[in-house]
Amino acid sequence: MSRIATIEIDGKKYEFPVIEGTENELAIDIKTLRAVTGGVTTIDPGYKNTGSCESAITFLNGEEGILRYRGYSIEELAEKADFLEVAYLLIFGELPTKEELEKFHSDIKSHAIVDEDIKKILDGFPKAAHPMGVLSSLTSALVAFNPTSVNVDSEEEMYNAIVRILGKFPVLTAWAYRKQAGLPLDYGDNSLGYVENFMKMMFKKPTEEYKCNPVVVDSLDKLLILHADHEQNCSTSTVRIVGSSNAGLFVSLSAGINALWGPLHGGANQAVIEMLEAIKEDGGDTKKYMSKAKDKSDPFRLMGFGHRVYKNFDPRAKIIKVSADKVLHELGVEDPILDIAKGLEKEALEDTYFVDRKLYPNVDFYSGIIYRALGIPTDMFTPMFALGRLPGWIAQWREMRLRKEPIGRPRQVYIGETYRSFKKVEDR
Ligand code: CMC
Repeated sequence: MSRIATIEIDGKKYEFPVIEGTENELAIDIKTLRAVTGGVTTIDPGYKNTGSCESAITFLNGEEGILRYRGYSIEELAEKADFLEVAYLLIFGELPTKEELEKFHSDIKSHAIVDEDIKKILDGFPKAAHPMGVLSSLTSALVAFNPTSVNVDSEEEMYNAIVRILGKFPVLTAWAYRKQAGLPLDYGDNSLGYVENFMKMMFKKPTEEYKCNPVVVDSLDKLLILHADHEQNCSTSTVRIVGSSNAGLFVSLSAGINALWGPLHGGANQAVIEMLEAIKEDGGDTKKYMSKAKDKSDPFRLMGFGHRVYKNFDPRAKIIKVSADKVLHELGVEDPILDIAKGLEKEALEDTYFVDRKLYPNVDFYSGIIYRALGIPTDMFTPMFALGRLPGWIAQWREMRLRKEPIGRPRQVYIGETYRSFKKVEDR
């Protein structure tokens, strides 16, 4: 049955098809709106009601707390898959066979070095530079060392660009940290798994052998899987919109990193820990901060609570909460800010302000707690999110280019001055 939506403007009716996704989501297709109405547009700040594309990568149902990559539930993937398998699934649409996975990993490893001159660029940054800024700059800088643009009609060129960035990005992320920590820049070890190798690149001290803890690796692997894609969020939409101008993969990713940096998006994981620390410094009075969060004249928000799409619970938060408990137990971490986190969580879940607005702890409420237990400094939390989100951004960029989507260019409703004539400066 084909459905039709009718819009009536000044007594004149216009009909538009209603399309249906594979999970029965309905959407009014307004592609012809401006043409048939003579220039009427829609307005939707924050795109709360606007679908920017059709996508076959991630399904998210915020009311029921469902998240699936290519049809597989996040719960099952977090339990049974590893991060590279999930990356392959997101980017290419199917779980890899054993051979495909081995080839994928080996191709990524063959690109796990960067031009030595990148070190000179990194050297130019002050030590106190935020690693997200460093990471986005270095990701852009890679273009200068790989100047050929990707021919998106060639599967081979596309594949090469993908394995290249998957190989180099963990190196850049680890180096952004090592620069800040004053550690020598080091390469990984291709005999290790992707996540294990990343941990080694981050934490290997020049004087000691680095030993990975399997509980830690497993937990980080899960965290990366949980962050790997989240349909058309702010950074992903940025990657797609930048890529829609036919800008290359690396610069589109660099734009995504910048979008992720903001505290309302990926930067929330850093903001959560900073908030918990501030509450601790202020005497640990969680009730005071609950009141601040509810006070409309106070800009303070409870970081790590609420989500644009999840209005029931964040399925990622459920999984990561269990993982956080395991890691803290394994590492024997006793951290006073954990008690503050638990206190806030309990109070918010029982408070009518939060319950009525459907504000629940999101993935970032817990991810920072794990990163902190792993010894990852607070301002590296968002780069960790970027490392996880990388396959999702790549998958979305690839899909957008393969579908030959038009350049992203929203309209507006102009509310400024109407025509006025110019006055010379002496007449103003
Ligand atoms: N603390 C206090 N009040 C809140 C919060 C919060 N964390 N989040 C939303 N509200 C209130 C908001 O003031 C508004 O109240 P009212 O209806 O009385 O005006 C209502 O809840 C709806 O909020 P909204 O800002 O319209 O919702 P949104 O969908 O635009 O924003 C959000 C979603 C995630 C930006 C927001 O909940 C927030 O700022 N949360 C804190 C930051 C955070 O944890 N972000 C990480 C998101 S998960 C990682 C990711 O996917 O990027």
